[in-house]
Amino acid sequence: MSLPISLEHVTHAYRTASGPLPVLDDLSIDMPEGSFTAVVGPSGCGKSTLTRLVAGLMKPDQGIVRLGGQPVTGPRSTVGMAFQNPVLLEWRTILQNVMLPLEIVASGMSKTQQQDRARDLLAVVGLEGFEDKKPSELSGGMRQRASLCRSIVHRPEVLILDEPFGALDAFTREDLWQTMHDLRREESFTCVLITHDLRESVFLSDRTVVFSARPARAQKVVEIDLGDQRGLDDLYAPRAVELLAELRREIQIAQGRDVA
Ligand SMILES: Nc1ncnc2c1ncn2[C@@H]1O[C@H](COP(=O)(O)OP(=O)(O)OP(=O)(O)O)[C@@H](O)[C@H]1O
Ligand SMILES: [Mg+2]
Repeated sequence: MSLPISLEHVTHAYRTASGPLPVLDDLSIDMPEGSFTAVVGPSGCGKSTLTRLVAGLMKPDQGIVRLGGQPVTGPRSTVGMAFQNPVLLEWRTILQNVMLPLEIVASGMSKTQQQDRARDLLAVVGLEGFEDKKPSELSGGMRQRASLCRSIVHRPEVLILDEPFGALDAFTREDLWQTMHDLRREESFTCVLITHDLRESVFLSDRTVVFSARPARAQKVVEIDLGDQRGLDDLYAPRAVELLAELRREIQIAQGRDVA
């Protein structure tokens, strides 16, 4: 099951020693159930702040964040998260790392069921045979695959990805995009992806929201009308190139650069 996410007039400022730092400015975004929304914008504009609000780790000063119509009042186990740094536990095997959320939330699953679920996901991302390895025995890309499995093993309704592919080399990153596509086909979640990579947002998302410089507003929402069956080659198709150019223009506007 997946839940729609909605932000209604969300405004937030951090309290700092030198006074309030406005970060989000009257942000209203609707993410339908099962959709994939990418968020791009200048560094420091407030993207990770948005993820903390959706995850219930913080409350906005004004406005409401809703999951499935219900206001978010705190962290919930139905939200999965993955970040740039996979943070796997070194003393656990890959299988045990992926199983962790099932041990923490009351999953009602037996140990064998938990193992089967984790094994199935590891197979989807191409890590069959690595279940008993320790994280340090895997490459960065493999660790990130395991981390993605861990973020969805408990079948979250909402998946938040904050630059999960940012630290990977270009080829590994493209592999992981394909993996993400495969996971999306197998699983059901509403996804928010924060990224600095416009090709990534075009390849993975149904819509990409461009944030302005801080305090972030939703400067532009670009529908990525490329259909569900995308391959990496489709990034060179005329429509994808048009979308990339449009996003690039919007980012330049967000950065305050002149656009010819
Ligand atoms: N806990 C905090 N207290 C005070 N200021 C904060 C806090 N967290 C973030 N900030 C500031 O708020 C602004 C937005 O931060 P945020 O992490 O949301 O940006 P971002 O868009 O994710 O940036 P990046 O693209 O570099 O990851 C930044 O100026 C940051 O320094
Ligand atoms: Mg960030």
